[in-house]
Amino acid sequence: MITVVGSLKGGTGKSTVSFNLAVWLAVHDFPVDVYDLDPQATLHDVAEIREEEGYEPTLQVSDDLRGLKRSRAADREVIIDVGTANMAGLEEAVARADRVVIPVPPSQADVWSTQRFIDIVERAARAKKKRRPELLAFINRADTNPAVRETAETQEALRQLDGLKFVTARLGQRTTFRRSFSEGLAVFELEPRSKAAAEMNALATVLFSTLFIQG
Ligand SMILES: Nc1ncnc2c1ncn2[C@@H]1O[C@H](COP(=O)(O)OP(=O)(O)OP(=O)(O)O)[C@@H](O)[C@H]1O
Ligand SMILES: [Mg+2]
Repeated sequence: MITVVGSLKGGTGKSTVSFNLAVWLAVHDFPVDVYDLDPQATLHDVAEIREEEGYEPTLQVSDDLRGLKRSRAADREVIIDVGTANMAGLEEAVARADRVVIPVPPSQADVWSTQRFIDIVERAARAKKKRRPELLAFINRADTNPAVRETAETQEALRQLDGLKFVTARLGQRTTFRRSFSEGLAVFELEPRSKAAAEMNALATVLFSTLFIQG
């Protein structure tokens, strides 16, 4: 299955989520290919650190989608990290994707930009004469203080958006995400007992649940 992790806005957590999902798949023995289409090449950098530090399993990160055919992805998972800084890359990714997963920080501006991003994905699919991939959104960087209303408000607003499925599993705003990433580790590797690890495991399980049903 080909999963694009994308958003219109910068800094929503695309690279953090792509990396953690890819490592999660690899440690569960699901073969995974990672594509980093962002000119910042963040995933290349984190995979390099991971390899230098000798952490297993290593991640193979490519920036060239040309070799990626849907048929090849039938028995592999593919994660593509792309933003609108690379529109051509986004179109290529959307044309191949089974689904687009959108991390949304809790704010009204992020809800608006998610609406615009849905339109961009639809246009990209039409431009390539492809069926629109499934669109899924979840909240990333949720405020860990329940008194803050923005997360609940953002959740309600996302539920109202047409053409989008809302994933209730969310990731909180937690330093473990930043610290683990800079060391080349997934959150559940650096701190397996942390809340960040539990949240990431829950999100990955929801997104990849069908992999555990075989027959
Ligand atoms: N759940 C989280 N909790 C705390 N920090 C987070 C979380 N998710 C992401 N971050 C931090 O937010 C910043 C942006 O995240 P990231 O680089 O993954 O976003 P991005 O969407 O890939 O950004 P860009 O658009 O620049 O590629 C990073 O410093 C990252 O460590
Ligand atoms: Mg990024």
